[in-house]
Amino acid sequence: MSTSLPVPPPAVQGPGERRNFVRTTLDLGDVLLRPWGREAAELEVLLDGLVAAAADPLIARWNPFRAADRSEAVAALEHREAIWDSGDAALFAVLDATGDALLGNVTLRWVDRADGLAMIGYWMLPAARGRGLATRGTGAVTGWAFATADARRIEIAHAAGNEASCRVADRCGYLPEGTLRASHRYGDGVYHDEHLHARLATDPEPDSVPGQRA
Ligand SMILES: CC(C)(COP(=O)(O)OP(=O)(O)OC[C@H]1O[C@@H](n2cnc3c(N)ncnc32)[C@H](O)[C@@H]1OP(=O)(O)O)[C@@H](O)C(=O)NCCC(=O)NCCS
Repeated sequence: MSTSLPVPPPAVQGPGERRNFVRTTLDLGDVLLRPWGREAAELEVLLDGLVAAAADPLIARWNPFRAADRSEAVAALEHREAIWDSGDAALFAVLDATGDALLGNVTLRWVDRADGLAMIGYWMLPAARGRGLATRGTGAVTGWAFATADARRIEIAHAAGNEASCRVADRCGYLPEGTLRASHRYGDGVYHDEHLHARLATDPEPDSVPGQRA
């Protein structure tokens, strides 16, 4: 009869244990994705960029937030920082590599953290549009979330008429899954139908997301 103690089973990582967003700068060469925060070297650029973004009609329609002036921009920045601290979302400012200009934003938030289900969203300032930056930024944050935060499924929902957002989703490998009827009230006060796209961690990489890094 053996006197050896039973061997414990190997430690299994429980669901959600790796699902932490760790503040990281994603360096795409000509573009940096930096966590929004008050400590940023580019603080003035971030504040002025937030004011400009909040005033843009398309952002006000599809991604509304308040930042009518510098003091409201400070509050918006502090709000983003608090959300990072809570662990509920990872919010990146998209900056020119020189740090001289805010270009846009990419946000990834948990819908159900224990289940690895997240949602991603983005906006670009008007002068930065049409250069592939939303595609590159969204691709980079997607790869980062799969590689470092154990995301299982990431969704994009955009208003049915928002063709540019639909193209970003397609280009980043988020497959179309159907139409959600009157599912979200946008900045115009209207409930819009939305197209749902999603990418699974097990999906193949899309062919064409330049600058993507895990
Ligand atoms: C949607 C948005 C983020 C796209 O940013 P962008 O950096 O210009 O996007 P990209 O340059 O990466 O372009 C991605 C694709 O969209 C296409 N596209 C860009 N603007 C478009 C438009 N107005 N209509 C149709 N397609 C458009 C591009 O041609 C490209 O397609 P391709 O790869 O087949 O050539 C930007 O237009 C924006 O900030 N809009 C306002 C806010 C918003 O709609 N946010 C999304 C809410 S879900």
